[in-house]
Amino acid sequence: MTDAAVAVLKERFGARRPGIAVVLGSGLGAFADTLEDRAEVPYRQIPGWPVPTAAGHAGKLTAGRVDGTEVLVMAGRAHLYEGYSPQQVTFGIRVAAALGLRAVVLTNAAGGINPSYSQGRLVLISDHINLQGTNPLAGPNDDALGPRFPDMSEAYSADCRRIARDAAAEMGIDLPEGVYAALLGPNYETPAEIRYLRTIGADLVGMSTVPEVLVARHMGLRVLAISCVTNMAAGILPGPIDHSEVLETGERVRETLVRLLRSVLPKLEAS
Ligand code: HPA
Repeated sequence: MTDAAVAVLKERFGARRPGIAVVLGSGLGAFADTLEDRAEVPYRQIPGWPVPTAAGHAGKLTAGRVDGTEVLVMAGRAHLYEGYSPQQVTFGIRVAAALGLRAVVLTNAAGGINPSYSQGRLVLISDHINLQGTNPLAGPNDDALGPRFPDMSEAYSADCRRIARDAAAEMGIDLPEGVYAALLGPNYETPAEIRYLRTIGADLVGMSTVPEVLVARHMGLRVLAISCVTNMAAGILPGPIDHSEVLETGERVRETLVRLLRSVLPKLEAS
């Protein structure tokens, strides 16, 4: 399934051997342009790669270096709510693993449910609740990639989280941990849904990331995930939620996220 994409990328990236993939969510694409010694490939030039249709998602793959650490950055992701299948939204993670990458750092825009959060805050995802009603691992299992019944008891590596927390503390960036609930979307939630999510233990809500985590863990990749709280979730504060607000907050926080990623990635590579 990934063979043609892998062949194209091997040719385009030549001798580069990135070890970590980074996925940038809504409004968070700026990090890709801070890499040194970049090689870029638009998604539409990669066979089988789904092209995001949502505003704020760039749609290109960039290989490059962060202080000597080689990384592969996916700026923009495809979502289930766009009509893509669970296999399509996780295609990039399968390709990254086939290219030999061993860790993924996922970022997303999320609604804040935990009342101690505020707009613009970064939160480390410690665990998730899959409420998307689907799963990219359903269907025949490819035993060569991973087990039929993968363990998810530590889906978000405790070691990677410690590295991220330490890096954030060093830089004076507040980085609490939280549980991410994934819904299908595309509508933002109702206040009743947010009360329900809060009751079942969710701190954050979003429409992505979980399929990628499931597929990454299926193949034994290490996972670190960071949410940007672009808005407080429905009913937590008065007033409606608007996609332009989500994108604007992403823009505002991206500089902090770029600083954090630039510090964390070399440390992850070394660990
Ligand atoms: N809900 C779901 N997904 C989101 C939100 C939200 O409030 N904000 C950004 N992505």
